[in-house]
Amino acid sequence: MVFFTKSKFYITTAIDYVNGKPHIGHAYEKIIADVLARYNRLKGNDVFFLTGTDEHGEKIFRSAEKAGKDPQEFVDELSQSFRELCSVLSISNDDFIRTTDERHERIVQKILTRLYEKGDIYKGNYEGWYCVPCESYWTDTQLVEDNCPNCNRPVEKKKEEGYFFRLSKYEKPLLKLFKENKDFVYPPSRKKEVENRLKEGLNDLCITRKAFKWGTPFPIDNNYVTYVWVEALSNYITALDYPNKKFKKYWPADIHLVGKDINWFHSVIWPAILLSLEIKPPKMVGVHGFLTLDGEKMSKSKGNVVDPIEIANCYGADALRYYLISETAFGGDGVFSEQKVVKKLNNELADILGNFVHRTVILSKKFFEEQVPTPSNCTEIDRELIAAIKDAPLSIGKKYDELQLKQGLDETLELVTKGNAYLNAQEPWKNEEVRANTLYVCLNLCRNAAILLSPVIPTSSQKIWETIGEQGQVSSQNWENASTLALKPGHKLNTSKPLFKKVELKEQEESGGETMDNTITFDEFQKVDLRAALVKNVEDIEGADKLYKLTLDVGELGERTIAAGIKKYYKKEEIQGKTIGYVANLEPRTVFGVESCGMLLAAESGNNVCVVTFERDIKPGTQIS
Ligand code: ME8
Ligand code: MG
Repeated sequence: MVFFTKSKFYITTAIDYVNGKPHIGHAYEKIIADVLARYNRLKGNDVFFLTGTDEHGEKIFRSAEKAGKDPQEFVDELSQSFRELCSVLSISNDDFIRTTDERHERIVQKILTRLYEKGDIYKGNYEGWYCVPCESYWTDTQLVEDNCPNCNRPVEKKKEEGYFFRLSKYEKPLLKLFKENKDFVYPPSRKKEVENRLKEGLNDLCITRKAFKWGTPFPIDNNYVTYVWVEALSNYITALDYPNKKFKKYWPADIHLVGKDINWFHSVIWPAILLSLEIKPPKMVGVHGFLTLDGEKMSKSKGNVVDPIEIANCYGADALRYYLISETAFGGDGVFSEQKVVKKLNNELADILGNFVHRTVILSKKFFEEQVPTPSNCTEIDRELIAAIKDAPLSIGKKYDELQLKQGLDETLELVTKGNAYLNAQEPWKNEEVRANTLYVCLNLCRNAAILLSPVIPTSSQKIWETIGEQGQVSSQNWENASTLALKPGHKLNTSKPLFKKVELKEQEESGGETMDNTITFDEFQKVDLRAALVKNVEDIEGADKLYKLTLDVGELGERTIAAGIKKYYKKEEIQGKTIGYVANLEPRTVFGVESCGMLLAAESGNNVCVVTFERDIKPGTQIS
């Protein structure tokens, strides 16, 4: 690991085909790359982050035709929607390359001329099975049940005279590269996959097309355009103005981030082209898994297809970013679920992070005149949390360096959870003697969490940063700095801004979306454990002005605690001692640091809320049916 070494860091995503609007897979890849770019900037590295669009080739030409548009007009519009995706998702790319850019086409032609002069391009005949969506030729033996081995779609027989790149010449050098560079493709299973196929041997690659004109002219012979993959891969150096200054500064790429379907192109064909150009190969090809849609609940016919721009506009880019990074470990496949975006927003971002920051700041305002208090001697419990804070950047950074983004993020949230537990244990709202120390440590943890979380949730992290009265951008801080208690006593806090708004799940999704009406079966109803419960105690919850903490006696189920939003409607003595209707088997939730197990039954009408009670005396724990 190169933790304290400042260096350049060049990261790229695949460039997206503009034959349709951006989908959630495109969003996923850009977000992973952005987390790595932002994290490396915090480490002090000189980052160059490239993304863009892949706009030539037969597939796009045919899509434009189908849409009844001139291809240039067609790709202009769609490329714009990928730029919009970047902006909506807070992607911090330093450049956006289009393969229809003049700068790109010009350098691609230079590259091809070089390959030709080197003797690595020759004219020959090609016959094979062509897959239009993948823009790839396959041999008989490569087809899987007569379909494209990559995407499973039908292929067409094609024969053409064209120019070939001597890919076979680089078989041995590539094997050597794989052998010597342990991390060349990550994760290792993806490396193995390519290595095995490489060992079966390489055929030369046809790199020209004649049937259509929508491409970069092939400089050696004007009757041809360049095969779309050769020019697409070249974007990683055309964007650096190869072979000039920027290229010299940033090449080789530290990581090409791509999906598993295009691993081969990046870990075999691209390095072979680079070898031929006598340029260093990239340091690593990082291969992420695929997201599929929760087919049950999202389909075009139901009108609820996943548009990442819509999701981000609906729940916030940070909620989507957080969900995508924390839901699936890097390299694995995942199933996208809008319901889970909401759950993570509510249960993790709002209940854990938002709650911690809110309580810390509110209490500091209340007791210390909006200032960081002066700590006194530390006790064991303070020292424990301070030690965890000290270790966090190195430990979390190690995960990020190894592309274990989910694990790094989980660890960060665990640190905040520790902060919540510490607050709950110390009860600074009650205990004056620990108040200053507790809030001093918690305010510093807010500051450090803002830095550590800023690669994943940049907008919310900036809000935390401003809430605790810090100046400037959290994104220009130092990662290592998040190990210290940098907020000094007397530092002035700011007005607390709400961090996350909780969202209610859509009804259809909550009920499983199976039935169109809202009837449930008798068995389904039987699953709900309804009980009579005696309210033994009613307390306020620090920082929550709508909630009471109720302690319930539920007979055979024992004692339960719930958070109930009835503070506006009931005085404590009005509800204490009453027996109420209670749902006993709801999934527990943490609300303002209180673990709420179950829910009371109440009716809301207009401005009034009425809790369900019993007309006659009834034993606590009695089932309601
Ligand atoms: O392949 N889940 O473009 P593309 C996760 N133009 N990732 C996904 C995905 C999904 N469901 N679907 C696609 C191309 N991706 C070429 C790349 S690079 C020189 C040329 C990923 O728009 C996919 O794996 O089909 C790829 O990395 C990226 O999105 C663009 O896919
Ligand atoms: Mg694709």
